Amino acid sequence: MHRLTQEKLPRHLAIIMDGNGRWAEQRSLDRVAGHRQGAESVRIVVRACREIGIPYLTLFAFSSENWSRPQPEVEALMTLLKDYLVMELREMLDNNIRLLAIGDLSRLPKEVVVVLNETMKLTAAATGMTLTLALSYGGRDDIIQAIRRITANSRDGNLTPEDINEGLFSKYLWTANLPDPDLLIRTSGEFRISNFFLWQLAYTEIYVTPNLWPDFKKEDLIQALLRYRDRERRFGLTSEQIKIGDR
Ligand code: FPP
Repeated sequence: MHRLTQEKLPRHLAIIMDGNGRWAEQRSLDRVAGHRQGAESVRIVVRACREIGIPYLTLFAFSSENWSRPQPEVEALMTLLKDYLVMELREMLDNNIRLLAIGDLSRLPKEVVVVLNETMKLTAAATGMTLTLALSYGGRDDIIQAIRRITANSRDGNLTPEDINEGLFSKYLWTANLPDPDLLIRTSGEFRISNFFLWQLAYTEIYVTPNLWPDFKKEDLIQALLRYRDRERRFGLTSEQIKIGDR
């Protein structure tokens, strides 16, 4: 951990946790066993991010497309999520972690929504780290719901076309209260965004590891952060301009 300097850490780390199913298949286990092991990696990574000092961590835990998976798998994922929230509340409070959830939460089972709302309420004052769970989340859904609300506000006379710019649009996204991610980690070796943050990833550094999510542990996180530390983020400028700006 001493290899990581605070100023070169991502402010917002987002993770596409992929490979639970393959992890289970490799062991001739049910896919749900992979998700259960994946929930263990979630515990480890949340704790490690808090220790390291990452202010915002977002986990893509359930996509809008995941609803089409076999019903027993969807139900098992919802149960795992609920159990995780109940089991980790103490840990979140003790470690000053605030929980947020983004996505089309109206599609979640009522008992999950109840636990989510309760956890968000109880952790609302925490300032050490914001842990956001993207649930029933799709990047395209997010953009469409933003456009719908902007259109409604325009119709009501509260917005004109000239008011619409990047800053305003960002405020209508489900991620309105989060900075754009600095680093995206995707496990299981797939080079895809899979309808995660489409708008928000414009200048995000991407790190893909072949490790499956249930095998992703603290040392893998540190490796990703070290690689991020060594990247030069140019935001469309030249390397020379960036170096002058650093002085
Ligand atoms: C992708 O693996 C993972 C998911 C669809 C769900 C992620 C859920 C967890 C890590 C556990 C529960 C979450 C929390 C926050 C406690 P996959 O099933 O697509 O893997 P595959 O591509 O190998 O089939």
